[in-house]
Parts: sequence; structure tokens; C-alpha cells
Amino acid sequence: MYGTHNIDQHKNLKEIKKSKMLVSCVFALKNSTRMSEILLALENNVTSELVHVETRQGKSGQRGSDTGRTEAAVFVEFIMSDQPSVQHELNKILEKYDGQNVREDLQDSQTDDVDENERGEARINSIVDLDRTSKKVLMYGAELDADHPGFKDAEYRKRRKYFAKIAFEYKQGEPIPRVEYTEREISTWNAVYSALKSLYPTHACREHIANLKLLEESCGYRIGNIPQLDDVSRFLKSKSGFTLRPVAGYLSSRDFLVGLAFRVFHCTQYIRHHEDPLYTPEPDCCHELLGHMALLADEDFAAFTQEIGLASIGASDDDIKKLANLYVFTVEFGLCKQDDELRVYGAGLLSSAGELKHVLTDKAVRRPFDPLEVTTAPFIITEYQSQYYYTETIEKAKQKLREYTKTIARPFEIEYDPYSQTIRYIDSKPQAVQAIKNVRHKITTLSTSIERLLEYVI
Ligand SMILES: [Fe+2]
Repeated sequence: MYGTHNIDQHKNLKEIKKSKMLVSCVFALKNSTRMSEILLALENNVTSELVHVETRQGKSGQRGSDTGRTEAAVFVEFIMSDQPSVQHELNKILEKYDGQNVREDLQDSQTDDVDENERGEARINSIVDLDRTSKKVLMYGAELDADHPGFKDAEYRKRRKYFAKIAFEYKQGEPIPRVEYTEREISTWNAVYSALKSLYPTHACREHIANLKLLEESCGYRIGNIPQLDDVSRFLKSKSGFTLRPVAGYLSSRDFLVGLAFRVFHCTQYIRHHEDPLYTPEPDCCHELLGHMALLADEDFAAFTQEIGLASIGASDDDIKKLANLYVFTVEFGLCKQDDELRVYGAGLLSSAGELKHVLTDKAVRRPFDPLEVTTAPFIITEYQSQYYYTETIEKAKQKLREYTKTIARPFEIEYDPYSQTIRYIDSKPQAVQAIKNVRHKITTLSTSIERLLEYVI
């Protein structure tokens, strides 16, 4: 459920004056009364202009779905003076309403260049726009809910703030800061890694097995060492063009999926609480590193993942919800057939020893992948899924997904330009002509290579 409403159709950010800041805060939302209280408090004491208010379901996803939900949150973007007295008032409101300041910017080139789309929202044009979207963390982040295993652990909470700071300060394209993990964190990693490693030969798809071996050789995947995101990001870049971007906690489905359009994977850097190494109420680096990375290194799977992201750009809230379900039941919980056996390629399963064992038993319900059915399938947060979906091959999942995404209504088509790392919106004749020229060039290259093969190889 995503409820979005804009204030004055998203006020033009170019109007922000030099002595003011654009600030983004997230508050846990218990009910609509609380939301109006928060907005009133901000308007009376802090903001000179409300820019954007958005209510969203928070995210969860036991065993690491990136698009699950827990509770509602309100995301508020506003302009305020940079005076210390105003900052003090904001701090009081954040404290009173369990809020979190997820971003504040003095006027820089990014905010000056923001375009708007048809719904009055900031349009995504370039990979650097992720600096704007990736800070809108919904839940957890530096703060933890009362039911989180680390809630009462002051040391763990402090550590999470450290990781959140890295993510909030990160700018697209920079190296990801290296982290010195503690002995306790490494021992948590060891427990997860060894529990999963013994299951992969009989449960994981061949792409996962082959690429995990490469990650072990190139990125320090081993007992006693938590791989560094920067090393893994460089490895992925060389294999499939994907890169990683540190994130402090849950993003909305829209903000998470848009990263995939640029082959950027928002990746947590913190690790789950040590109390129960085989359980986490949210994605952590064990989930990302062991579940996602091996498949993202596969060229075909990377293309499949990017296609989900590209389909999300400009999609309605309802279509985003459906795409999030498609993502969850493929990239997180998907299965495929290999050598007449079912094998797992979903990261949520590949990072959870318990559910990885369960999914191939007779107790699990496994159904052929049907995109229409999947878009409305129930996604269970706190227990194993009630059903899983499989295809004959991962390629088949990509074909079916592509057929489905063609049916998503939007007033333009888009094309990704990997050279400039920008999205091209094809919504006019000149842009359509340019797109045809690009395809023509690719067809010429393909046709020449086939001719050469016929001439010299056969
Ligand atoms: Fe995930």
C-alpha cells in the first residue's frame, strides 16, 4: 500500500534560497491523527515550505526481502532555515515523534537540476539521481523497532548508526568505505556462512555455485572474513556491470527498484544481531553477500534484474506494487529447473538455511511461474512463504516478465544508455528516431558478426 500526495504538486526545488536547507525526515506513523500532529508541529516551528509528504507502508521481510513491509511511515520533505534555533526545534520534534532526519542538503547542483515527471514528482534521469532517492530510508536505518533483536543492545544500536552514517554520506560513484568488522560480527558471519555453504551443492542453481566460487577467490568470501562491499562492487562491475551502493535500511519499493534500472544494487553493510545468527527481521550483509551477489554477477540474471527496475520508472503506485511482488517471487524466492531438478536462485532462500531446506521438501507449495498470478500473490513476512514459483529456466522467467511489463501503461517508453548512465525517455518523434538508429547500429553489428561466423567458422 502506497499513499502518495504532493503539496502543491511538488514545489519547484529551484526556488530554494541559499540560506535554507532541503530536509527529509521519516516518522513512524501510528495513525492519521499523529500524522496531522507531526505536520502541524513542523509547519508551526520549523518549515518555511512543505515540499513533499508521502505515506508509505514500512518494509520488513524476514530472511531479507527488499520489498516487504512492516508498518506505516510518513516521509516529509521540507525547506527550513539553517539557523541553529530552527535546527533545535526540529530536533525536539524528531525526538517527540520518533523521527529520523534522513537527509539535509544545502543547495547543490543536484537539487538545482531536478526535473519533474507527469505526477509532479522528481523525474529520474541519471545514475546520480540515486543520491536523492537512496536516502529515503523507511524503517530501521539508524533506529531500531522494539521487536528488533538489537533493540535493547546499546552497542549494537551505536554500530548501526555508524553504518547509517556511511550510507547517508555516500555519493554515487565513490568507493564504498571499508569497514573493520568486530570479532563478534565475524563470528555471526561464520555461523551463517557455514550453515548455508553445506546446502548450496544440493539446493542452489549452478549460476550461484559457480559465481560464489569466483567471489571466494576474488573477494575474500571465507570463514573468518566478511567481504568488503567495495571489493564485491568492483567484481560485479567487471562481470555484469552491476555496482553496489550502501543503504541504511529499507527503501520504498519504488526507490529500491529504480536503482536496478541503473544496475545499482542498494546493499546493506551492517550485520544482523549476534543473538540469533540464523534469524534476521531485515536484510543484512549476510543476505546481500550470500543471497544476491553470485546471481548479480551472472550477465543474463543481471539483465533480468535490470528489466524489473526499468519497468518501474514512471509506473503507477499500483504497478509498482505488482512489480515488487514479481521481484519478490523471482529475485528473492525464485526457483528454476536444472538437470530435471528444482534449484534455487532466489536470494531470500539462498541466505536462509531453514527456508532453503524447506523449499525443496514436500511441505512447500511450488507452482509454475505465472506473472499475473504472482502480482497478487500473498507475501508472508514472519514465516516461510505459502507458495513459491518456478520456471523451466531463468531465461524463461525473463521472457515471461518481459511479456508482462509490456502491458504496464505509461506515456513513454524508456531506454537505458550505459555510456552516460542515463535514462532516455522516448516520448517524442526525434527520440523515437534516435532509438531506431541505436537499434539499427546493433543489428548491423550482429549481422556482420553472423556473416563472419558463416564465412570463417562453419
Ligand atoms: Fe534481498
